[in-house]
Amino acid sequence: MSENIQPILETRGLTKHFFTGNALSRTVVKAVQDATLQVYPEKVVALVGESGSGKSTIVRMLAQLYKPTSGDIIFEGENIVKHTSRAALLRYRGKVQMIFQDPFASLNPVHKVSYCLQRPLRIHHKAPPGMASALHRQTIELLEQVSLIPAEDYIKKYPHQLSGGQRQRVAIARALAVEPKVILADEPVSMLDVSIRLGVLNLMDRLREMHGIGFLYVTHDLASARYFADEILVMYAGWIVEKAKSEELIQNPKHPYTQLLLSAVPDPSRGLRTAEIEIKGEIPNLANLGAGCPFAPRCSKVMEKCNTVMPPITTFDDGSWTRCYLFPNN
Ligand SMILES: Nc1ncnc2c1ncn2[C@@H]1O[C@H](COP(=O)(O)OP(=O)(O)O)[C@@H](O)[C@H]1O
Ligand SMILES: [Mg+2]
Repeated sequence: MSENIQPILETRGLTKHFFTGNALSRTVVKAVQDATLQVYPEKVVALVGESGSGKSTIVRMLAQLYKPTSGDIIFEGENIVKHTSRAALLRYRGKVQMIFQDPFASLNPVHKVSYCLQRPLRIHHKAPPGMASALHRQTIELLEQVSLIPAEDYIKKYPHQLSGGQRQRVAIARALAVEPKVILADEPVSMLDVSIRLGVLNLMDRLREMHGIGFLYVTHDLASARYFADEILVMYAGWIVEKAKSEELIQNPKHPYTQLLLSAVPDPSRGLRTAEIEIKGEIPNLANLGAGCPFAPRCSKVMEKCNTVMPPITTFDDGSWTRCYLFPNN
């Protein structure tokens, strides 16, 4: 990614520990540890990892649904962890939108599509007050942008009258309504039929280009990350262990975990159009992690120090990085 373009959204040392249990037996789930990532305008960064690796927790902190245990979230140069007023939160939500995994749960079943799209327009003052015709026109335009055509047919429908793919398109239109700068898409196509996933990814790609939106695309599917994203972050047991441009990561994976993931992919050059390639394996219990690298017990190249201290970040000339003692620290 070009060095002179500033990230629109970034995290530094972002950490989330969940405290569960009672006073006698307290458990700390280390869901996210020291996460550093950047989202750039008009680019897609994918966060790839197995279920339970901490992806949604990162997204939820970025959406200000969870408060970080420590670390910073910087949006347009401002640290938003310290912003707690309602007005600041509303402003942020108007610029950083979220798309959820489950299109069936994310739309209110008692409201028509028109309500679902007009509500954010009203809340974020995108429509002139009292001008029903302008509101209607904006709603139609949003539906057309997500290719729900003819829009007049969709505007009157209830969520239950739509397919999963159509609902996810409405959810995307709702996110677009506030003219966001960043969209956090948490497994947006995982619950859709394989046959329609590509259409939804292509739609998001078109919107990225049209509106210059930066995407954080969360997935457990490396092939779709390669297809959609400029950069890939690989997450394992709460830690981001590698970052690289998508092709570089696929062709030249550095971390042994990334190598393991790719060895499960029969032929990377096949791309996404074939069956989905899922990441398989067991990730360790996040409530029971030692101080070392969480991948050490599964790693074929494990060294003694891997079990005692998590490796620091080693950065390479092209800006990619990994956390692994196989690479000298710099
Ligand atoms: N609200 C919560 N309270 C306690 N533990 C949680 C909570 N949310 C997530 N976790 C735990 O944090 C870990 C990471 O979860 P999550 O971020 O949902 O992973 P992913 O999205 O990669 O599947 C899991 O061990 C999960 O059980
Ligand atoms: Mg998740």
